[in-house]
Amino acid sequence: MSVHKEIKKITTHTLQEMKRAGEKIAMLTAYDYTMAKIIDSAGIDVILVGDSASNVMAGHETTLPITLDQMIYHAGSVVRAVNRALVVVDLPFGSYQANSKEALNSAIRIMKESGAHSVKLEGGREVKDSIERILTAGIPVMGHLGLTPQSIYKFGTYTVRAKESMEAEQLLEDAQLLEQYGCFALVLEKIPAKLAQRVAEKLHIPVIGIGAGSGVDGQVLVSHDMLGMTHEFSPRFLRRYASLYETMGNSFKQYINDVKSLSFPNEKEQY
Ligand code: KIV
Repeated sequence: MSVHKEIKKITTHTLQEMKRAGEKIAMLTAYDYTMAKIIDSAGIDVILVGDSASNVMAGHETTLPITLDQMIYHAGSVVRAVNRALVVVDLPFGSYQANSKEALNSAIRIMKESGAHSVKLEGGREVKDSIERILTAGIPVMGHLGLTPQSIYKFGTYTVRAKESMEAEQLLEDAQLLEQYGCFALVLEKIPAKLAQRVAEKLHIPVIGIGAGSGVDGQVLVSHDMLGMTHEFSPRFLRRYASLYETMGNSFKQYINDVKSLSFPNEKEQY
């Protein structure tokens, strides 16, 4: 008799069942093997290989510079660590907007070369053809509305979106369209909580919020932010679960001190 307990993997269907059952979905970002292993072992439902890697891992000011090859590298590292979570990978800026054929080719490269389970892209009705073409290859697509960082130069700021009623109604319509096109879930970023709740109530697919209040079907945060590693970034929606900038900084200082004072390595730490 095997004592090995089989892990029940999260699929897009699991997420839909969770919405139906009223169970909230927990999602976090990861860009590398070690972080993904810790997050998956903790029992997260969804890991997003976000294009926020452009900021967090590469130090760029925006998400625009990260390339498809770089996203595939991050995604492959994450997939190798994951046993349970659903892995979603952002299609980077410029890899899906020009035409639907390019979008499909980009999504196929992500799935084939990284082993990920689905892709995410930003936008509403303007990306209809790309979404529908990607779906023809059997690749699940997650939508993303509200603050869409790939359009930062169109909006000019990272402030809350859809506060005015016209933009709010358009967002609601776009959300319904994304569901009709076939998206399996939707991320809503930095919009008023009441609007996000309205969207979640209207849609049958799960709606996952970041800075979108508690009335949605799940939450996502950037792991480095919630761990307190990116300590200059403090939006109102961010809850910090650790202060790793300080903890890590103190460990590095202690190590430097130990090396310089000859206390490391000691006799037991050598051969
Ligand atoms: O790239 C990312 O990390 C994201 C989340 C903020 C949703 O898209």
